[in-house]
Amino acid sequence: MIRQAVAAAMRMMGEQFLLGRTIEAALARAKRENYLSSFDMLGEGARTEADAERYEKLYADAIEAVGRKRGGQGPEDGHGISVKLSALCPRYEATHEARVMAELYPRLLRLMTLAAKHDLNCAIDAEEADRLVLSLKMIARLVAEPALEGWTGFGVVVQAYQTRSPEVIARLAALARQSGRRLMIRLVKGAYWDAEIKKAQVLGRAGYPVWTTKPATDLAYLVCAQALIDAAPHLYPQFATHNAHTLAAVRHMADKAGVAIEHQRLHGMGETLYAAAAQRYGAMTVRAYAPVGGHEDLLPYLVRRLLENGANTSFVHALTDARVPAEVVVADPIAAVEAHPGRHPRLPLPVDLYGDARRNSLGEDLSIAADRAVLTGAVGPLIAEPVTAGPLIGGRRIDTGPALDVRSPNDRRVKLGVIREADEAAIDEAFSRARAAQKAWNALEGVGRAKTLRAMGDALEAARPRLCALLSLEAGKTWPDAISEVREAVDFCRFYAAEAERLFTGEVALRGPAGETNTHALHGRGVFVCISPWNFPLAIFTGQIAAALAAGNAVLAKPAEQTPLIAYEAVRLFHGAGLDPDLLALIPGAGETVGPILTRHPSLVGVAFTGGGDTARIINQTLAARPGAILPFIAETGGLNGLFVDTSALAEQVVDDVISSAFGSAGQRCSALRLLFLPHDTAETLVERLCGAMDVLKVGDPSDPATDIGPLIDEDAKGLLEAHLKSLQSHATRLHRAPAGGAETGLYFPPVLAEIASLDGIDREVFGPVLHILRYDPEKLDEMAAKLADKGYGLTLGVHTRLESFIARVQAAVPAGNVYVNRSIIGAVVGVQPFGGEGLSGTGPKAGGPYTLIRFASERAVSVNISAQGGDPALLNL
Ligand code: FDA
Repeated sequence: MIRQAVAAAMRMMGEQFLLGRTIEAALARAKRENYLSSFDMLGEGARTEADAERYEKLYADAIEAVGRKRGGQGPEDGHGISVKLSALCPRYEATHEARVMAELYPRLLRLMTLAAKHDLNCAIDAEEADRLVLSLKMIARLVAEPALEGWTGFGVVVQAYQTRSPEVIARLAALARQSGRRLMIRLVKGAYWDAEIKKAQVLGRAGYPVWTTKPATDLAYLVCAQALIDAAPHLYPQFATHNAHTLAAVRHMADKAGVAIEHQRLHGMGETLYAAAAQRYGAMTVRAYAPVGGHEDLLPYLVRRLLENGANTSFVHALTDARVPAEVVVADPIAAVEAHPGRHPRLPLPVDLYGDARRNSLGEDLSIAADRAVLTGAVGPLIAEPVTAGPLIGGRRIDTGPALDVRSPNDRRVKLGVIREADEAAIDEAFSRARAAQKAWNALEGVGRAKTLRAMGDALEAARPRLCALLSLEAGKTWPDAISEVREAVDFCRFYAAEAERLFTGEVALRGPAGETNTHALHGRGVFVCISPWNFPLAIFTGQIAAALAAGNAVLAKPAEQTPLIAYEAVRLFHGAGLDPDLLALIPGAGETVGPILTRHPSLVGVAFTGGGDTARIINQTLAARPGAILPFIAETGGLNGLFVDTSALAEQVVDDVISSAFGSAGQRCSALRLLFLPHDTAETLVERLCGAMDVLKVGDPSDPATDIGPLIDEDAKGLLEAHLKSLQSHATRLHRAPAGGAETGLYFPPVLAEIASLDGIDREVFGPVLHILRYDPEKLDEMAAKLADKGYGLTLGVHTRLESFIARVQAAVPAGNVYVNRSIIGAVVGVQPFGGEGLSGTGPKAGGPYTLIRFASERAVSVNISAQGGDPALLNL
């Protein structure tokens, strides 16, 4: 009964916002109900070429159908069409401009030419702010197209909530004036506000691309409206709003200027408002934006409408709330902005997201050409001037011993610098300096040490372009991965600084029930060895060191053999930030030679290690074989990570998250998705779409902003993956590969999708872009999940669903340290691995941070019994 009721409610809601399932039905209803419409063919955000082709056909058919029914009206008084560019290209992104111009633009031109042929009004909808510039570039090209000469129905939507909106109107007006082609401009406030705010916060942007108070958006709308009216007749103003105050204001402005305007509303909204307006102002042109399509494509649109109707800032929400007085509903936005001109008090800038706890790290915005140029511009100098690196002991570089070339995985011919290995004497010296310096460092307590750690965070942040370029060249990181990595390193420094202050400051008084004084304090242990991997050569390297230092230790840091240069830079930055050089030594070298010298050294007090399970076991055994105290060993090793999807999951989000989690960083993350579990009912379509999304991935040089997947780290890694692929070729039921790319002389391995029949034989993590897919019977979910749990890995787990019960079921069956849940609600989650845990940016949530400080510390509990014989003197004064 409940299911039927919900289905009926969904249908009603769909009908409320949908004009028809097909364009023919929508045209018939528009005629019946006497609507002037701009039809929106539901569907957005193509993920594959097939999606884009399908949507183009849908739009083209709709334009033809509307054109055929046209009774001689022009763009102002006939029906029109609204087009979403994200539907026409799976890579409609600023970093893929060449592809957009080569694939999306011709599609758009074909549609516009068709609309011009029928003399319709055809508008380009406004989508996310990071697509604005790209859309304007296409609009400027279209305006110059000879095929569109003489057509006056070309429409553009402008969002007033974007802080750039007045400049956008000014540019469009200039374009129309210079070209002599009239543009129809639909002014809206904007429908992606919450997503814009969240995206800016997640990416650590300097500010927000949208206004942060509702009155500011309302005021911006009025400013843009005036500019539109002033630009008539070059621009034809179309005002879309359901806000009575906004409607009355634009009406007043237009009447005063004597300019003809059009009003617009969404189908299913604003009927009474425009009926009342018609009574007040007389006949007026009102066009309804009318979605057309099936319920399966309705969700993103519906969610935006529900958010719009449900937000307490929304005009329609306030209007229907009897508790809100009329003066408040129609309050003057100018007065409100004058009273509170600044940012919304409850919306801190992204940098202040963590309040007093710590400053958030900043990131470049790759949708901005200038930001991209800062990064790509840092590559050349690094290639021109190779780095000479070596052990850093007491701040001095040791230049003895053979120099090994460090070459880029993107192109083995490119030499990035040289590195020398630390020998036993250097390691001895490093230990003795570190031991001597550690006492004073420990005595500084958390507050003293935090200053240096924060300075290190700032130094890393200031060196961001160079560090990103080095990560790209030495570790093969794409720009988004490199930015995330530097940000994570910055966050680690600031996070551990705050933790040091919290945990390592003086003694904490405990209860003394029988009169004694009990205290507890944390201290550094001595000299830690930190051994880090190549896959996060800056973030994990810095995180381990920052944690050990924060706890009052000195550190000997051994970077991975593949990535010594970035480690060398990081240690120099630590020293430059004011850290006593004796407290941190860089010990480069091969694991087999340098590793045992470090882990057997008598001055060692503990090891922090991230890397493969086999190496972790060797270190563990070495430590266990040492005489004397049992040393702490903090190890984080690999994972065989699964993602469970159910039939309620939203296909687009599954595709986005799977592609990014399985193939991001070329699959070389311990948290990467390896095993995707799909329910039988939706598996086929999801696999099809995943293959389609793989087809539009770009494998290649990571310093090209358009690259999605960079190279593998070295020849060994490539050999292992090639061998794995060979074995899959014999037993996978389906194999698919992304297109090849990258230099012949680079270590490229295009992503692989492999469907397999069972988990048998998948016992180890294969570190690279290989996604294994298993279909499951929902009845047997627990059985399947238990099989994954039996593999013994529990690093990360993903769940895609709209059902809480499914999340609980999967979590109960697979115990994992970090769980990523995507509740499949549009706008609720940005990215695959959203913030969580301690909110460290970069690669995802960390359960308490991987290096919880207390594990680096020695505890000291002191109990003082004031008078052993006589008890507590206070007792005498009862
Ligand atoms: P109202 O006066 O309630 O204003 C709502 C606006 O205020 C929203 O933009 C909201 O984000 C903003 N707001 C709320 N809190 C805020 C805060 N704290 N700080 C800053 N701003 C805040 N949208 C779009 O993005 N692209 C498009 O192409 C279209 N196309 C379109 C066509 C037609 C014909 C219509 C009627 C609407 C659209 N829209 C759209 C949707 C449009 O953006 C949405 O309907 C309006 O934002 C609603 O504005 P009102 O004036 O009706 O409401």
